[in-house]
Amino acid sequence: MPKPRVVATRKFPADVEARLAANFDALLNPDDRLYDAPGLARAAAGCQGVLCAAGDALGAQAIEALPASVRMIATFSVGYEHVDVAAAARRGIKVSNTPDVLTDATADIAMLCLLGAARRAHEGTTMLRAHAWVGWAPTQLMGVHVTGKRLGILGMGRIGQATADRARAFRMTIHYSNRTRLAPALEKGATFHADPEAMLAHCDFLSIHAPLTPATRKWLNAARLTRLPKGAVVVNTARGGVVDDEALIAALKSGHLAAAGLDVFDGEPKLHAGYYGLENAFLLPHMGSATLETRNAMGFRALDNLEAFLLRNATPPDLVSPPS
Ligand code: DGY
Repeated sequence: MPKPRVVATRKFPADVEARLAANFDALLNPDDRLYDAPGLARAAAGCQGVLCAAGDALGAQAIEALPASVRMIATFSVGYEHVDVAAAARRGIKVSNTPDVLTDATADIAMLCLLGAARRAHEGTTMLRAHAWVGWAPTQLMGVHVTGKRLGILGMGRIGQATADRARAFRMTIHYSNRTRLAPALEKGATFHADPEAMLAHCDFLSIHAPLTPATRKWLNAARLTRLPKGAVVVNTARGGVVDDEALIAALKSGHLAAAGLDVFDGEPKLHAGYYGLENAFLLPHMGSATLETRNAMGFRALDNLEAFLLRNATPPDLVSPPS
């Protein structure tokens, strides 16, 4: 029996590509060229599987253009808003993601964003590298104190919970809002807010961990930002689209917010031009899962799914359904 053919839309870590090539007839992408929809449809000719990644545009049109041979799309990401799962279902194409394996790495980056924003890390490193540091001064680069403050978490799934665990080590008080209240063992004393808007007044820091869905698009808008206490810090390591960029930039400029720590951007890699000049924005290029261990684990998890379905005709362990 010939091995099923799988097209990889991106260049993946070497160990991931080695396993892909060992178990499938793999069409790799060594130059990491970005496919557009017609290009992907051509590349997928004769393929049963597509291994894609966050940022690939697999909307309804791209999925409709895929050849009839394609039976499964495995995304190398936990977020899957870039894949139109409903359009895939109409074509009978299964879609899987990679939950769990990037929880710790992403929670680490959430804390980096929180601390980097609060403690003015961007201004400090910039001053140093510009040879503009003239020495320690009693009033230099005073930031927002973190220990003991209130952290509100929007979306208390795995990554939200892992971020809360880290924040507890900073003796932060945890508030959260989630579609369902967690069991006490997972809640660990955090205060639940059934209404996320009602949580905002209790957030010295707000960390976003909600997926991007039609309901969360631009959720953090001007009206909700005004509910945060003056001097609050906003952190986003989930998806940029959950934030209204114009409103966040205005709140950072006016001083209503002290700072923001952002790892994700609406329309990335083209972020809103207003962010570039903001000294109080600590910005990272979507690095939440970027450790070798995590990227390997994501790739292996995506392959677990492709192998289950395409090699063993079994149900992929991480099937996803359209967001509600
Ligand atoms: C994901 O998996 O959704 C991340 O954003 C990629 O790091």
